[in-house]
Amino acid sequence: MAPLILKPTSQAHGGAAVARDDGKVWLVSYALPGEVVEAEPRGRQGGVAVAATTRVIEPSPHRAPAPCPYFGACGGCQLQHADYAYQLDLKKQVVEEAWARAGLRLPPDTPVLGMDEPWRYRIRGEFEAVAGAEGWRFGFHRMRSHSVLPIDSCLIHDLRIERALPAFAQAANEMQLKGLQNLLLTVEPHAGGLLWRLRFHGREPRWPRDEFARRVAELLPELTVLDDTMSVEFWGLTFRARSDTFVQTNYRQMLVLYRIALDMVAAKPEERVLDLYAGIGTISVAVARDAAGVTAIEENPHAVQLGRLNARINSARVDYLPGRVEAVLRGIRLGQHQVVILDPPRAGCEPAALAELIRLGPDRIVYVSCEPSTHARDLVGLVRGGYRVRRAAIVDMFPQTYHIESVALLERS
Ligand SMILES: C[S@@+](CC[C@H](N)C(=O)[O-])C[C@H]1O[C@@H](n2cnc3c(N)ncnc32)[C@H](O)[C@@H]1O
Repeated sequence: MAPLILKPTSQAHGGAAVARDDGKVWLVSYALPGEVVEAEPRGRQGGVAVAATTRVIEPSPHRAPAPCPYFGACGGCQLQHADYAYQLDLKKQVVEEAWARAGLRLPPDTPVLGMDEPWRYRIRGEFEAVAGAEGWRFGFHRMRSHSVLPIDSCLIHDLRIERALPAFAQAANEMQLKGLQNLLLTVEPHAGGLLWRLRFHGREPRWPRDEFARRVAELLPELTVLDDTMSVEFWGLTFRARSDTFVQTNYRQMLVLYRIALDMVAAKPEERVLDLYAGIGTISVAVARDAAGVTAIEENPHAVQLGRLNARINSARVDYLPGRVEAVLRGIRLGQHQVVILDPPRAGCEPAALAELIRLGPDRIVYVSCEPSTHARDLVGLVRGGYRVRRAAIVDMFPQTYHIESVALLERS
């Protein structure tokens, strides 16, 4: 059979490039718009034919050598074959298209804030366990597969996380642990703490957890091995976080994101702010310094508990209301808050949450999102409810991958 020759013309959300061949649409991974590539069909995804590049016939001027030896096999990164400046361009194009599809125009002056050093940025990583001939190893799911690719290095994780992996594998092997599923590691950005959580397939068996932690600590003398909470610090503020609470995985860019979000919030001393999907309260506490007070809504009880603690540690005027945003907002009275900031998970807001926001009618809404399609969908809902998009920004929290973080400021029109 003749090889498939494709000429992608644009970028799709998800990291692949889009090509058309005889009217048929292909999603081509590891290809860039403007290239000519030889590709191999790899089934279908969401009804669209998928192919992987096997040879680049005419490379893009933006093609870069991928430094990671696992790139192409590992499901973690999709964009290492593009130079970093171009990755940022591609992300802006994807956001523009998502907004256009929803009927919105991304403000033309929307900045894309990238990293000076777009590597080793992740302070949290989740690694799948895999049993091989030499015992347990940790790695990532292969591209579009449930099988696990064991790894020795990962260039987007903090080096301390990479170095800790063999210690956890060694301790698991020495103690002959069975049924491991995955390992979550989070490092303290400014201290030597390493927070860990090991998960098993099915119900957690009885296992010598303390002995395991002691052995890992012996193997990692340069780190403080933590199994309960860790600290995250920024701007003179201190927060406690746990494995089961959300932390921004890119600490350096978190500061860029929060700076721009707070600038959009522009809280005045007499204003009260609502922080929705507040997590452990990092945004709430930071914004509380400028405002009369913050009401934080969050559904994860562990995050609420730590959020309340974090408010106390930082003497911040933050009140937590536990529960789901769409339900808790119903109990908020009109006129209590002048500004809302929200940072939902990828699925975005429930329609009921948007309806409640529109009912409350704050002057400004700052919407932070890690998924451009739901961001655009929800922004349109708010625009229909009487808001106008005033500013937007894209902050690259996830270099080398297709993931995109964007933030928009809306004002009541
Ligand atoms: C993307 S995180 C944002 C956390 C925080 N803003 C930060 O920057 O650390 C989303 C948070 O929303 C919470 N969450 C998800 N769905 C929710 C819902 N329907 N109602 C309330 N909280 C929700 C999650 O538990 C998580 O803490």
